[in-house]
Amino acid sequence: MCDHNKNIYLPYLATVEEVIDETPDVRTLRLVFQDEQVREGFNFRAGQFAEYSAFGAGESTFCIASSPTRKGYIECCFRAVGRVTESLRRLEVGDTMGVRGPYGNSFPIEQFFGKNLLFVTGGIALPPLRTLIWNCLDWRDKFGDITIVYGARTEADLVYKRELKEWEARSDVKLVKTVDPGGNGPEWDGKVGFVPTVLDELAPTAENTIALVCGPPIMIKFTLPVLEKLGFGDEEIYTTLENRMKCGLGKCGRCNVGNIYVCKDGPVFTAKQVKAMPLEY
Ligand SMILES: Cc1cc2nc3c(=O)[nH]c(=O)nc-3n(C[C@H](O)[C@H](O)[C@H](O)COP(=O)(O)OP(=O)(O)OC[C@H]3O[C@@H](n4cnc5c(N)ncnc54)[C@H](O)[C@@H]3O)c2cc1C
Ligand code: FES
Repeated sequence: MCDHNKNIYLPYLATVEEVIDETPDVRTLRLVFQDEQVREGFNFRAGQFAEYSAFGAGESTFCIASSPTRKGYIECCFRAVGRVTESLRRLEVGDTMGVRGPYGNSFPIEQFFGKNLLFVTGGIALPPLRTLIWNCLDWRDKFGDITIVYGARTEADLVYKRELKEWEARSDVKLVKTVDPGGNGPEWDGKVGFVPTVLDELAPTAENTIALVCGPPIMIKFTLPVLEKLGFGDEEIYTTLENRMKCGLGKCGRCNVGNIYVCKDGPVFTAKQVKAMPLEY
């Protein structure tokens, strides 16, 4: 966070520069900080999150979904599920909202240099990995093979459809997209099946590979054993958690699991760290 922001709870003002409807209920906002100093000084790493506020409604926690390599703006992508997200959804281009952050740890991207990357994700859980995907694609020569397995319930539920096309067209990325059985229309050119099943069939190598997994709990539950079967160790699998949060700063105690504060110690954890968390998680 920039030093001049004395009150840690005070959001920066940001203007909505672009509104993109990803699905009927999922929306991307591209935001530009109004203060030039903040605009230039706001640095973040892939995996960090922010608190986004709609005036009169409150704050919501979302990952920063754009890549730190793309300067001058940040993006968030959210599903309208409640009071704050419904208010944020009503914002139009030119409107003002608040953003405070960036918070949390991040993906240790430098440790991935020279390795293959396997992204496994589902539904609205693509945004927390999309920041890292673009970061890695912008530094493409630092990594080996990049494979993305992405699934959604139906074709309509896939987010970033234009970027999926872009990744599909690249020769240096392998995108495997899938929808649940019954979720495909007549034009569908991807796989049909649940993400863990598709991953199992694809059987990517675990050798010199880091797996980055983010999705609904049910997807994670069935994906981890597949990765294990493929030979991935618990320290070669990373995920990002979405516990309930309020302050984002390690002060309110809303997000903790045992003695771990997801907002400060996370939200990025290895599978080894997640398995060591108390059973309540
Ligand atoms: C680190 C982190 C990153 C996140 N990134 C994103 C993102 O990129 N895009 C996105 O759409 N959402 C993301 N979330 C979840 C998001 O914060 C909540 O869905 C949102 O705050 C709900 O706000 P609301 O006031 O509109 O809904 P509320 O009125 O508070 O709740 C509406 C419904 O959502 C449920 N809910 C609320 N908070 C959470 C939560 N943290 N996890 C699961 N369910 C919740 C409630 O139980 C209720 O059923 C993230 C959460 C965390 C902690
Ligand atoms: S969200 Fe307040 S302590 Fe983590």
